[in-house]
Amino acid sequence: MKGVVLAGGLGSRLYPLTKVTNKHLLPVYNEPMIYYPIRILVNAGIDELLIVTGGNNAGDFLRLLENGKDFGLKHINYTYQQGEGGIAAALSLAEYFADNDKIIVVLGDNIIEGNIKSAVEKFHTQEEGARILLKEVPDPQRFGVPVFEGKKIVRVEEKPANPASNFAVIGIYMYDQKVFEFIRSLKPSQRGELEITDVNNFYISEGKMQWDVLNGWWSDAGTFESLQYAGNMVAKTGANKI
Ligand code: DAU
Repeated sequence: MKGVVLAGGLGSRLYPLTKVTNKHLLPVYNEPMIYYPIRILVNAGIDELLIVTGGNNAGDFLRLLENGKDFGLKHINYTYQQGEGGIAAALSLAEYFADNDKIIVVLGDNIIEGNIKSAVEKFHTQEEGARILLKEVPDPQRFGVPVFEGKKIVRVEEKPANPASNFAVIGIYMYDQKVFEFIRSLKPSQRGELEITDVNNFYISEGKMQWDVLNGWWSDAGTFESLQYAGNMVAKTGANKI
């Protein structure tokens, strides 16, 4: 299984912090933001990694991460997203890297207290389809929100005004090789992006989506409030505990 960290986009919700640098290079307490999603993958036993980035500061990722020796890696792959076409557009750039293998995708601004080992083990034995991770949150309208019928997810709604549950679909996704076929059939959403939620809804409509609830805290770090919250939580408890 291979891992992909998505670190493109404009980070416009953090302007002017992101005027001269990429969001994922900003500090979260004592480390650059991108260290945390990389560790999510490395701690899950993934040692083949692709970083998708973009914008004017892509070269800084190479200077910061080099070949990944700080994470115990021998090599890191990089690719470049032109413009801000959305999370699914960024993921489409990983097709060549994935080479028909299953992949685990982590959004570059997602930070967790613990690890995803048990979900990854389950995905290893899952014959096909996808797997998402959920977390109960106080503000689900900021995220992709699952709609349940019993224990079954019947669809995910992206940033709904009236959330159907208190769960967020967090930015850690596991996909089989069909994901790239699904992405090719996507149309841009109202915000002009190819949405990862539409990809997840494809898997749900085919009856091939599994889910788990994440243990420990989770935060994105894409707004001033969540960036500060994530920094405070890292300072308080640490992140990426094995
Ligand atoms: O954090 C979890 C949430 O992430 C999910 O619950 C939502 O369903 C999902 O749509 C996403 O929501 P956001 O609106 O918060 O995503 P955002 O635009 O902030 O992008 C998150 C990361 O994805 C960002 O840190 C880098 C990567 N990205 C994003 C875009 C738009 C790219 O690599 N390229 C892009 O074009």
